[in-house]
Amino acid sequence: MKINSTLFNIPIINSVIEYDCTDSTNIKAKEFSKRGSVHGTLFLAHKQLNGKGRLNRTFDSKKDEGIYASLLLRPNVSPNQLPNITLLTAVAIVRALKTICHLTPLIKWPNDILLNGKKLAGILTEAGPDYVIVGIGLNTTTKSFSSDIEKTATSIFLETGKTIDSFDLLYNIMEEFNDLYEQFIIHSDFSFLLEEYNNNLANLNQEVHIIPHDISYSTSNPYSIKVDNLDTFLCRGIDENGALLCEGPDKKITIINSGEVSLRGKNSYS
Ligand code: BTN
Repeated sequence: MKINSTLFNIPIINSVIEYDCTDSTNIKAKEFSKRGSVHGTLFLAHKQLNGKGRLNRTFDSKKDEGIYASLLLRPNVSPNQLPNITLLTAVAIVRALKTICHLTPLIKWPNDILLNGKKLAGILTEAGPDYVIVGIGLNTTTKSFSSDIEKTATSIFLETGKTIDSFDLLYNIMEEFNDLYEQFIIHSDFSFLLEEYNNNLANLNQEVHIIPHDISYSTSNPYSIKVDNLDTFLCRGIDENGALLCEGPDKKITIINSGEVSLRGKNSYS
């Protein structure tokens, strides 16, 4: 990807730091945030040696086979709104893939973008006391994946046979992010984007399994859930706080926060 200075036409972009190869742009953004880097610093890499995913997973980041980008933000929003930054980033990526690549991806709550049921992109949002880092990994030209993810991962090339201009796509993602982030700051919550998010949600009104990774159930916490079997739920979309609404066999709605679980479509990854 050839990066150029037109990125500075996007109001939120204040600085761009580009690496040929680095450990992880999220790690770099975190280091720089502690040294005072400004809101709107964008970290880009052609290759990552330690690309990070959610839940301590890795994100394959081979040279120039994807977009590997992290945006450092210094938002003034309440901590409970921070997960919504992941959700609005997902909408920005979906919009850009529609505009630039004429694709119709879906969002796998909370942080994956799917194409034809496989993972095309992931978002890793990490927050500290005075910063939020939004990391975006999107497979563009990958032709083959390692055996552990080959059944579940995909790239734009694998789905379309085409090699797109990655910079155009990155630019459009950042433009969309800029617009959505401005609105998010004005509204201070996610309600303005709820309908669009749910319209692009994989598994909406379909059966899903909820896979807990931290079974921290407590009767006093209204957001905690007790899932000790693989109950089947119907996915009813997200609410204005960005939590997922899952309807159980008894028709009761269970509210699930993104930290707690992974979702699986009944018969597949999606
Ligand atoms: C996930 O799949 O759970 C999220 C993947 C996020 C990957 C991106 S690539 C750029 C940024 N740097 C990282 O180390 N991770 C994110």
